[in-house]
Amino acid sequence: MKNYYQLNFLDKPLDENYRWPDHEFSPRAWYYWQFYNETLKEVIHPDLLAWSQQHDLNLNGVHLFCAPPRTRQGIHIDGNGEPPLFAINWILTATQSSMTWHRSLIQKVTEGHIDHAYHSWQEHECEEIERFSNISGPVLVNAQVPHRVINDTDEWRYCVSVRFPGSFHTWEQCVEFFMPYITVAGNTPLS
Ligand SMILES: [Fe+2]
Repeated sequence: MKNYYQLNFLDKPLDENYRWPDHEFSPRAWYYWQFYNETLKEVIHPDLLAWSQQHDLNLNGVHLFCAPPRTRQGIHIDGNGEPPLFAINWILTATQSSMTWHRSLIQKVTEGHIDHAYHSWQEHECEEIERFSNISGPVLVNAQVPHRVINDTDEWRYCVSVRFPGSFHTWEQCVEFFMPYITVAGNTPLS
């Protein structure tokens, strides 16, 4: 099973009247905005909100990412592991950029079990297992496996990410739910 699947899904994640926040771009800074609850309605496209309500999905947050040209993120997992976080990302620009997934080569053991509070990895602490590039959104991504964005392009990478915490207990469940939208040739979700 892959950690990402392109979706044949709503093309426009943002409300047509929504404008990205004004900001002064510092060449190396990563910009990041989050919206929850009531403010969601001003940001998210009404079709996306309606769809999530119809399907009883807890779409409770949207994240806007703006990644500078020629930069890479640290390897990390999102959140604290509870509830598991899966996302739909729309990559709006710098579509030649990449997202990679990694297998941890280390375990931090606390009282006999893996400490889920350990959320970031150095390069030498993991190995790359999967990557995509050249995808314009939407794409379903597993944020529970160590991952990062690599923007090796000369463009700023604008990405919209929506989350539905608690709606799925496992990545398998999540992929199964989205199966009707996973129609791109070469995707074989359950193999
Ligand atoms: Fe992430």
